Amino acid sequence: MLVCHCKVVNDRTIRRCVDEGAHTRREVGRACGAGTCCGGCRTLVDEVIEDELQRRRVSRVPHRERRLGGRVALPIAS
Ligand code: FES
Repeated sequence: MLVCHCKVVNDRTIRRCVDEGAHTRREVGRACGAGTCCGGCRTLVDEVIEDELQRRRVSRVPHRERRLGGRVALPIAS
């Protein structure tokens, strides 16, 4: 999906920027140019960044913790 028409940047490029460490609109703009011209796409750029960060947070939670609703299960000391 094309997100930034001015710089011709799609959501996959923004997601790749997030994967490479750009976690704010400014950092993504520096990395690929999205949102750095007219500004009309900034809300959508923010949404893609947040969606990708959220997806990465969920995918990092181990399976057992996900079943517990994201709560961290601490091991019981013996
Ligand atoms: S549409 Fe992205 S800066 Fe203009």
